[in-house]
Amino acid sequence: MTPSVATVATPRLTRPAPADDLAAWDRQHVWHAFTQMQEYEPLLIERGEGAWLVDTSGRRYLDGSASMWCNVHGHRHPRLDAAVREQLDRVAHVTNLGLSNPTTVAFARRLVEIAPPGLDRVFFTGDGSSATEAALKMAFQFWRQADCPEPARTRFVAIGDAYHGDTLGAIGVGGVDRFTALFEPLTFEALRLPSPALPRPGKATPPSLAESLAEFEALLATHAGTVAAVIMEPLVQMAGGVLVHPEGFLRGVREITRRHDVLLILDEIAVGFGRTGTMFACEQEAVVPDLLCLAKGLTAGYLPMAATLATGRIWDAFLGTHAEQRTFFHGHTYGGNPLAAAVGLASLDVFRDERVLERLSEKIARLEARVARLAERPHVGEVRQCGLVAGIELVREKGSAGRPAVPFPWQEQRGTKACLAARRHGALLRQLGDVVVVMPPLCIDDDEIDLLVAAAEAAIRETTA
Ligand SMILES: Cc1ncc(COP(=O)(O)O)c(C=O)c1O
Repeated sequence: MTPSVATVATPRLTRPAPADDLAAWDRQHVWHAFTQMQEYEPLLIERGEGAWLVDTSGRRYLDGSASMWCNVHGHRHPRLDAAVREQLDRVAHVTNLGLSNPTTVAFARRLVEIAPPGLDRVFFTGDGSSATEAALKMAFQFWRQADCPEPARTRFVAIGDAYHGDTLGAIGVGGVDRFTALFEPLTFEALRLPSPALPRPGKATPPSLAESLAEFEALLATHAGTVAAVIMEPLVQMAGGVLVHPEGFLRGVREITRRHDVLLILDEIAVGFGRTGTMFACEQEAVVPDLLCLAKGLTAGYLPMAATLATGRIWDAFLGTHAEQRTFFHGHTYGGNPLAAAVGLASLDVFRDERVLERLSEKIARLEARVARLAERPHVGEVRQCGLVAGIELVREKGSAGRPAVPFPWQEQRGTKACLAARRHGALLRQLGDVVVVMPPLCIDDDEIDLLVAAAEAAIRETTA
């Protein structure tokens, strides 16, 4: 089934200029993220409703990437809109450098209530990269100021193909070469544990759970006493290509980090707030990290805000008089912004009142059933899913027992082409290399899931023929 692209009359909106001018100015002036501007074709989204986005000509598209993995309850949710408006009537911004405001305090309290136990200190920043940067710096500084300081602990372990953001610290621990390799001279070198989801060189299948954990333990033993923290995305590495970890990997990593007294930083920026079926992914393996990074869904995809949650053990190491110089000298102008906090609070109310998590398992099962059949297609190498996200990997030749799949030459940009084609079928999707990612807002309904996967399938069929 191929969904048709509905066109609706655009209601009277005050537009700053005619749509054609805006498209021309977009090309001329706006430098888009992760986009080759020489090839960029403008698409201007003017409004949204639920899981749908509407462009300046009134064409409707299902938001199949949840507006870059952050939208949760849909666009223009009345309670979220009202929360921002109400906060606007109080104050739009208050610095959190030595000052506070009721909304942000209340939000911190609610976060602590829903977070894994013990993570009861909240450091607010503005986006995901700044949340991971803060966590890395906190971990580094912690070991200098802990009760028994261990200043030799200066290194970080990160997982191969990890993504933790684009600032220099974050790409130091990032493992997606096409994002990081060029900047290597500017970054620190992390110790790398290959992803447990990928075969080791020369092998056709990934290692067993026991083998992956043994590799990890060996790495920590080799660098004993020098590792400050391990940073990882729990359950699934999203930007690495929706790489799903074997069950038990996260729990095993936590146990090993405890044995070696190494801190664990979990980056739940992409997976937090319901994406994997529970509020936080780490709940599924009953793991509590020392530092937890949140962003994206933190404000239901409304406003930029991130948070690094820390345990009392970390917090205590930073306490002292000014003269003792234990302060965390780090922060961002908009950290803890009350408009963002207001919508974050309202989002948690929506989670509770609309029973969002309880209703997720059926949607996850439906997505699974719909994407599973794509695995039968000739140029689909693998379909990987974790909760309400699926990655459909396009390949030139499928693999078989003992023989890995043959990728398309990367220059052919099959993933990009498939996602552009999906627009004609009424869906906005975003690729990761040749992996087409289906990651809708959690509010998507059954029919919309069917439409979205049908659009992805039609696009893949056209662009891999
Ligand atoms: C796991 C993970 N960490 C960090 C980031 C960086 O977040 P931001 O783009 O808000 O800086 C992302 C963004 O996609 C992410 O997926």
